[in-house]
Amino acid sequence: MHIAIASDHAARALKAALGEWLRASGHQVDDLGTDGDVSVDYPDFGYKLAAHLAAGRAERGVALCGTGIGISIAVNRHPGMRCALVSEPLSAALAREHNDANVIAMGARIIGIEMAKACLTAFLATEFGGGRHAPRVSKLGHPPGSQS
Ligand code: RB5
Repeated sequence: MHIAIASDHAARALKAALGEWLRASGHQVDDLGTDGDVSVDYPDFGYKLAAHLAAGRAERGVALCGTGIGISIAVNRHPGMRCALVSEPLSAALAREHNDANVIAMGARIIGIEMAKACLTAFLATEFGGGRHAPRVSKLGHPPGSQS
């Protein structure tokens, strides 16, 4: 799968480890930064990830920051993004099955590398369930007051 990954400075090490693991697992990975330990603003990287996916340049996104909260909020500002902040695999799987989540967010200060891999494995392996979930997911792209 073609996957884009982005983080702020707080999750740079987790991003590097997950990116390497995804590549070793056969995925194509676009690393959108950040690349150093210099403090950066998580919205910049959340918006960059959302734009990348919205442009069709990757199929799924991985968004990381210290808690996962800030960057997940940033990604979800884009109406085409359904970013799920998770810290265990059941939520990761249900985010795909029920919500057709296209981005997974995790917190590097909250979970370790093995739990992050387990969440990501569940996220990538689970298909959207469709059916009763489809009209609900469709509504997420058309919030009240939006032009679309
Ligand atoms: C950075 O210190 C931290 O605020 C950020 O990584 C994230 O946890 C915000 O939600």
